[in-house]
Amino acid sequence: VLAIWHQLTKAEIPELAKCSVLMRDRSRVEDTIYAMQRAGAGRLQVISDFDMTLTRFAHNGKRVPTTHNILDHRLLIDEDCSKKIRELLNTYYPIEIDAGRSAEDKLPLMVEWWTQVHELLIQQRIRKELLAQAVKESSTMLREGYKVFFDRLTEQQVPLLIFSAGVGDVLEEVIRQNNVFHPNVHIISNYMDFDQAGVLRAFQGQLIHTFNKREGALSHASGLRVLQGRPNVLLLGDSLGDLTMADGVSEHQNILTIGFLNDQMDERKELYVKSFDVVLVKDETMEVPNAILKYIT
Ligand code: C5P
Ligand code: MG
Repeated sequence: VLAIWHQLTKAEIPELAKCSVLMRDRSRVEDTIYAMQRAGAGRLQVISDFDMTLTRFAHNGKRVPTTHNILDHRLLIDEDCSKKIRELLNTYYPIEIDAGRSAEDKLPLMVEWWTQVHELLIQQRIRKELLAQAVKESSTMLREGYKVFFDRLTEQQVPLLIFSAGVGDVLEEVIRQNNVFHPNVHIISNYMDFDQAGVLRAFQGQLIHTFNKREGALSHASGLRVLQGRPNVLLLGDSLGDLTMADGVSEHQNILTIGFLNDQMDERKELYVKSFDVVLVKDETMEVPNAILKYIT
């Protein structure tokens, strides 16, 4: 009888059996999903990273641009600036994903990266009115199944908090052009500050980078009214820094973390399995999050 009872209190989700899905403790994952299902959509919130989590990492063997890299467009910045931004990416991205260095160690270097790139962008006097065209002409792509993901959350009135260290104005344009900027979507990101003529003059507020999302969670997310009374959290990310995005959720009950392992698979697999509840290895789709959401809501 005990064995049957145990089975009944667990979620059975066939997609979790795919070989690209790794779990440190499968049983705990199933228990958590089951508990979230019992509590219902009214108690759920979804917190997701953007670049390389909601967007694809690569497509046809080519990297998909992040919101920062979408700004690398001839309409917005000159060749010299483009070259400098690429050099910075080549220097700092390997550090960002280095499994051999701690987050504390990386933190000041990430501040250096973001600060330098933002300075360069400001010098280019980017015009707000050209952002939409740059997004349109970029090769940005949301993960396969994104529409089901966004639409289901909207239908079920579950708030989706997109928490991104990318550029908010570009992020908004990407989801708008994909027709999924629904009213339940809330965004915390680095927003551009334009002067009256629509020319970029600064970035607003405290800088958000990969490894300070905890501070943003405590200062911004915790104050969002729509997230209150929703103690169950589905968290999606691709960086270990994304794990702190739910730190502002007070009186949380069940948190399920899903990590996309896009790059440096062999080096980072162990660390990811230790840190996220569910790890999706080289999976460019929303299939697993969608299956979990379908079960819960
Ligand atoms: O949305 P998310 O928080 O993932 O956005 C941050 C990502 O953007 C980082 O993982 C980083 O690799 C990338 N980035 C970039 N160019 C920059 C700064 C960050 O591509 N100048
Ligand atoms: Mg990311």
